[in-house]
Amino acid sequence: MTEELERAKAAAAEHVVQALRPGLRLALGTGSTAAHAVRQVAARFPGGRFDCVASSRATEELARDLGLAVRPLRGDDRFDLLLDGADEVADSFALTKGGGGALLREKVLAQLSDERVILVDRTKLVHRLGERSPIPVEVVPFARAVLETEFRQQGYRVRVRGGPGGSPFLSDNGNEILDLTPPAPLSDPAATDRALRAPAGVVETGIFVGLADRVVVGYPDGRVEERRPPRARRT
Ligand code: A5P
Repeated sequence: MTEELERAKAAAAEHVVQALRPGLRLALGTGSTAAHAVRQVAARFPGGRFDCVASSRATEELARDLGLAVRPLRGDDRFDLLLDGADEVADSFALTKGGGGALLREKVLAQLSDERVILVDRTKLVHRLGERSPIPVEVVPFARAVLETEFRQQGYRVRVRGGPGGSPFLSDNGNEILDLTPPAPLSDPAATDRALRAPAGVVETGIFVGLADRVVVGYPDGRVEERRPPRARRT
């Protein structure tokens, strides 16, 4: 199963990467699928002919090791393309992200990108968010215990994401992650996102609404299927 999933993720990445033009400004996501894309960019375009910003230290390291030029984010940045994965893609094209803990930087880059391409295997496709994965919420450590209580009272099952040696996981921004299982799949992800971000101490959620322009679903046999939300469909 794992091998099949990896082949599916690689197929989705290959489909997008083989059509890239050198010189693009690329925003690089995080996770095993985004890593396939990074490896393929480096393999197909040796010499790092892209201007890249990464959404995590892990992706930055991987990209640099493979010879890609990765730089910090600048005040006037825009990206031609974001290549990223997701934990869930809903029928509405809302996403759950943050299984790798990079949700904040991923959302920053997604908001700065002209085309957001989400690469997934078909296990990530759901009707509604919350069917398959919990919703990661990045919180400042000072407020974590209070927010745990708050979200439990709102009906979520709350898990503090664990890190090395039993201590809480810390994001690249020094924050903790609460993984929230909603009582039922989300009927209005944008409203849930707003509500979760309301209490002080919440930095960002892994609910991405309106941030996927193209979803590329890979299959283990190398086939891919492209899906676009209605507003992004070309005529
Ligand atoms: C990283 O924080 C996440 O948003 C990932 O993009 C997401 O968890 C998908 O990861 P995989 O590609 O490893 O499944």
